[in-house]
Amino acid sequence: MKYKKVERIEDELSVLGYGCWGISGPAFWDGTTDGDSIKTIHKAIEAGINLFDVAPVYGFGHAEEVLGKAISGSRSKVFIATKCGLIWDKQNRITNCLRPESIRREIEESLQRLGTDYVDLYQLHWPDPAVEIEETMETLVELQKAGKIRYIGLSNFSIVEAERAMKIGEISSMQGLYNMLERNPESYHNIPLEYRTEREVLPFVVKNGMAFLPYSPLFQGLLTGTISNSKDFSSSDVRSSNPKLSTPEFRKYYEVVINLRKLAHRTGKPLGQIAINWMVRDNAVTSVIAGAQNVAQLEENLGAVEWTMEDALYNEIEEIVANSGLDL
Ligand SMILES: NC(=O)c1ccc[n+]([C@@H]2O[C@H](COP(=O)([O-])OP(=O)(O)OC[C@H]3O[C@@H](n4cnc5c(N)ncnc54)[C@H](OP(=O)(O)O)[C@@H]3O)[C@@H](O)[C@H]2O)c1
Repeated sequence: MKYKKVERIEDELSVLGYGCWGISGPAFWDGTTDGDSIKTIHKAIEAGINLFDVAPVYGFGHAEEVLGKAISGSRSKVFIATKCGLIWDKQNRITNCLRPESIRREIEESLQRLGTDYVDLYQLHWPDPAVEIEETMETLVELQKAGKIRYIGLSNFSIVEAERAMKIGEISSMQGLYNMLERNPESYHNIPLEYRTEREVLPFVVKNGMAFLPYSPLFQGLLTGTISNSKDFSSSDVRSSNPKLSTPEFRKYYEVVINLRKLAHRTGKPLGQIAINWMVRDNAVTSVIAGAQNVAQLEENLGAVEWTMEDALYNEIEEIVANSGLDL
């Protein structure tokens, strides 16, 4: 494994991380079983992956529980990045909530599900317009002083909000939607994004010595070349609510994937490894938190760490993407 280090985090973080949304359970993500998830996490730890990105809302607590089981006995080898701010009711309706009392409850529940007494990185999952960021940050600083969280991170936040947050406490990481085909995306699952990843967030993290965690680095599987139809997902799979994968919009991304697949074939590298390495070569990107449903997928993704992307391949990708007509 290769590792990267940023000023604001003491630990070195593996360039390939592990995204836990896909281990939410079969009701949320096609092809998932807890047994496979646990085996995959064990393989990840064995291969030197230390960053695991999860959230309470993934499977309504289930992903944190599965991760907790899988890392039992290996706590010192893993850097847990979980989140707060998306809560659900008895009917599993999700709302944004960054109120202090809600966060204090959320952290206790996460610690219990994860089977640990501290979280390495605690990220605000999405902004909550009903609560001032300063009030939320004061609560996080309190949790930090109590030793329940080591570092604070923001996910899906604008630079303006991040700067406000930094006046109250130290922000060590930013997380946002980023992959080869979504460089400055304006929406995610129909939710408008208040930040432009490549134009604003990447220079911001570099300037401030923060980590950057790109989410959906494989475009939820599209950039592995295995999705060829917008109707590949069952209606319960969370990806069926991503309009970029489930409506006619799919076609415009898929056309580019066809060309990228040809390039991958010519180089003899799986497309997913190319998508991962396109990010690893960027100093601003710290850990590529790709999901993997089973050991075979993880092993293929781990192969990305075995080689480095030369400029010639990078330039070919840039040409294909620039000529794709996608609004980058
Ligand atoms: N902060 C946020 O708001 C936010 C939002 C989204 C995600 N995230 C984080 O980012 C992580 C990653 O993003 P993501 O889960 O959206 O998707 P992703 O990492 O872009 O794609 C993961 C999916 O790609 C497929 N895949 C992976 N490796 C493969 C391989 N070698 N061959 C074939 N298929 C492969 C698998 O799906 P199939 O096999 O089922 O096709 C896998 O579940 C999440 O797990 C989560 O931790 C955060």
